[in-house]
Parts: sequence; structure tokens; C-alpha cells
Amino acid sequence: MTSSSAEAAQSDSDIAAIVLAAGKSTRMRSKLPKALHPVCGKPILAHILDALAEAGVTRRIVVVGHEGEAVRKTLDARYGDGVLEYVEQVEQRGTGHAALMAQPLLAAHQGTSLIVPGDAPLLTAGVLRDLLQTHVTRKAGATLLTAVLSDAGAYGRVLRDPNGDVSGIVEARDASPEQREVREINTSVYAFASAGLFRALRDLKPNNAQGELYLTDAIRLLKEAGSSIAAVVAPDPDIVLGVNTRVELAEVAETLRRRLLCDLMLAGVSIVDPATTYVDAGVRIGQDTTLLPGTHLLGETIIGEECVIGPNAVLTDVTVGDRVRLRASFAEKSVVGDDCKIGPFSHLRPGSVLGRNVKVGNFVETKATTLGDSVSAGHLSYLGDAQVGADTNIGAGTITCNYDGFQKHRTTIGERTFIGSSTTLVAPVTVGDDAFTAAGSVITKEVPTDALAIARERQSVKDGWVSARRERQRRQREGGKAEC
Ligand code: UD1
Ligand code: MG
Repeated sequence: MTSSSAEAAQSDSDIAAIVLAAGKSTRMRSKLPKALHPVCGKPILAHILDALAEAGVTRRIVVVGHEGEAVRKTLDARYGDGVLEYVEQVEQRGTGHAALMAQPLLAAHQGTSLIVPGDAPLLTAGVLRDLLQTHVTRKAGATLLTAVLSDAGAYGRVLRDPNGDVSGIVEARDASPEQREVREINTSVYAFASAGLFRALRDLKPNNAQGELYLTDAIRLLKEAGSSIAAVVAPDPDIVLGVNTRVELAEVAETLRRRLLCDLMLAGVSIVDPATTYVDAGVRIGQDTTLLPGTHLLGETIIGEECVIGPNAVLTDVTVGDRVRLRASFAEKSVVGDDCKIGPFSHLRPGSVLGRNVKVGNFVETKATTLGDSVSAGHLSYLGDAQVGADTNIGAGTITCNYDGFQKHRTTIGERTFIGSSTTLVAPVTVGDDAFTAAGSVITKEVPTDALAIARERQSVKDGWVSARRERQRRQREGGKAEC
């Protein structure tokens, strides 16, 4: 290979990532594979795969093993079939052996292989880009991402020669007491020139405390073969945090959550109490929106500008317009238009679509229901499988009887209509535009446009009935005493 083609071979555009995710992760004590445990709403492995994509990595090869089928299924459902590549490591013989599994897919690869662990969701695209940049400019055989920790714990120690160049990595359990003093650790994130990587991996020997094929030994082998080894020190040691137990899962989630909330605040979102505010990765929030304590914005939620959300609101996969006030409510898979007022204590179930300026108040539940602009449903109602036209008022206690025990049926209500309090709408049923239902009506038949429907027993009044009853009761009591 000429030197110019060697340079071309390490260009940015030719990067494959190998994600090591075959480990058993017994310490999680979970039926769910570790890689699929969510952190801020997204599987651990998806955080890493997304950071790789954002860093411009075109091929992502996931090494799967334990519960590999479940991991593949979840990832393919998320990214689409054929987007990711997989290789299987049937027996977990160490990180070097895991990386070697990718060789058949990269046999002809002449560019850079990025290797990342499958359990470090705090890695960022920025750090990966820096690593690749150094790798390319230094024309290195391998470039390590290292971090300097106050307590290097069980991490592999980075060894440097008197010139400061990396000479190798030694695992904590194989290290001498002096080596254990080293605070610069291996993060398990590396860039390698692919050809050299696989040559070194084939030469690995399990000469260590665990009897495994260590990926870290490839660094020493490359160095001995004359390759230059570069290193980038991570600016923030948090990014190395890996998840091995549920305690670490919570710690990592806390760190990521803080990072997400900081980004939102710097982008113009007010968060009154970050300690009690939970926002999933990927949620979008407009400028000058305020999140009050106890707010959970989950899944694919999008919030517009100048909204006030919370206190105590849980929104999952909800799209909210601008200037919405949403207090103490639950919403799921719903759409809320501009200027709506929701809650307190409303429940928007999946398929609720609210136009602009809609009011949904206390103890109102909606499901698969469309409310037109300026509809008001202020109190104590259930609106299921319904369509309500603009400017219609839904009185307190209105119920759509959408289910007959076998099937769901629709209720259609027109525009500018007044549904009286405690109206029961027995679906399927239609109420026209500009119509009116009397309070307490049980509507079973169509109410035409412009009509009033009264469907209740006519009131009868019996004058003097109460005092006559009291008199009867008094006489009964006295008669009873006389008999004793
Ligand atoms: C590894 C590094 C260590 C580094 C640390 C950073 C080695 C030998 N050691 O140690 O220097 O400081 O990461 O976190 O590489 N895996 C497989 N197949 C296997 C073994 C592991 O796919 O046979 C995967 C795991 O699922 C995990 C990743 O590789 O995602 C790292 O493995 P792990 O056992 O956690 O390595 P550490 O002991 O933490
Ligand atoms: Mg680990």
C-alpha cells in the first residue's frame, strides 16, 4: 500500500464501529438483557448506537451473544431491518475474542474500526469525533480514549513510557502495586486501523488472571510491531461510567438526566426543580416553556413554546402546541393544540386530538376522541370514540356510552352545540350542529341540527308531601309506645 492510499484508508468516511454487547451481565439480575435496559427512555445500547451515527459512523456492527435474539429484535424494530449488522459470539471468551467476531464482516476493510463497549450510554458523539480526529491526524495504528479518575478502581490502567507515549494497558487484577497507582484508565473505547487490529487480535493469548482474550493486549502487540499508539483523555470522566448493576443503572440515568436538563435550560426552557423533573432523551421542548416540579415528559413527546407544564404531569408520546397550560394530568399518545388548558386531574388516553383553545378540566377522561377548536369539557366527563365540533360545550358529568360489551361505537357531536350536564350519550349516536340536550338526558337517537332533545322523566311535584310523611312517622312512633 502506498502512503497516500494508507492515508485515504484512514479517512473519516470509512469508519466501521464494533459494539461489544455479548456479555452475560449476571450482576443486573434481570430477565431483560442489560443492553436493553432503558436509560432516560432509551435502551442503553441505543444511546451508544445513536452517538456513533451522530459521529458519522456508517457501519455499526453489534457483537451479540447472551440473549442475542432479543437484542437484535429490539434494535431492528427501532432502526429498521438491515440498518445494523450483527455477529454472534457464542462463547464469551473475552473482549478481544468478541472484537475478533467482526473480522468476517471487515476482512476487506481498509479504514478505521472504532470499538466501543455496549454498556456505556454516556459516551457522546463529540468525544467519538475527537478520538477519530486524533487517530487520523496522528496516523496512529490505535488510539485509545482514556480518563483520569480519582479512584481508578477495577478499570484497566494505561501504561506510558518515559516519553509519555502509551506502551500498553494492564488490567487491575493483573497489575503490579505500582501500576495500580496509575489513575489514567482505559475506557474501552478505541480507534484502530482495521487491518492491524485483526492481525493483533488473531495473535492474542489468554495469559492473564481471567484466562480470557483481552482486547487491551492488542495495544501492546501493535506497539511491539512498530505501530504508533495515540491517546485522547476524555474531558469528563463521567462518560466512562458503565452499567453493571442496577445501582450503576440509576447513577448513569441520573447523570444523563442532568445532562439533558442542562441542555434544555441552556436552550431556553425553565426547569423550576431539576431534581424532580424527568425528561427522556429525544423529547423536544420549545423556548420559554416552563416545567414545574413533578413533570415527566416521556417517549416521543414534543412541547411547543411558552407552555407551562406541571406540577405533576406525566406525558408519554404527546405533541403539545404553544402556550398550553397543563396541570397535574396524565396524557398518552395524544395531540394538544395551541392555547389549550388541561387539568388539573385530566386523563388524555391514546388517540385524543385536541384543537386550539380547548379546555379539558377536572376528572375528564378522553380516548380516541377529537375535540374541535374552543371545545370546553370542564368537569367529570368520559368522552370515548367521539368527535366533537368546534365551540361545543360539554356539560359536567357527560358520558359517552361507547361500549356495549362487545363492540365500541362512535358518538358524533356537531359545532356550537350545548350538551347539558349529566347527558348520557348511548353510542352509536349523532347530535347535530347548534343542538341542545337537556341536563340529565339519556340520548339514544339522533338529535338534529338546531333541535333540543329532552330524554328524561318529566318532574312531578307533590305539595305538602314531606310534612304529611313526618306526621305519619310521628303517629307510628306514638302508637308503638302505647302498645308497650
Ligand atoms: C474492560 C477493559 C478495561 C477497561 C474497562 C472499561 C478488557 C480486557 N478490559 O474491562 O481495560 O478499563 O472495560 O469499562 O477489555 N464483552 C463481550 N464478550 C466477552 C466479554 C465482554 O461482548 O467475551 C462485552 C461486554 O458485554 C461489555 C464489554 O465487552 O459490553 C466490556 O466487557 P467487560 O467484561 O465489562 O470488561 P471490563 O472487565 O469492564
Ligand atoms: Mg465493564
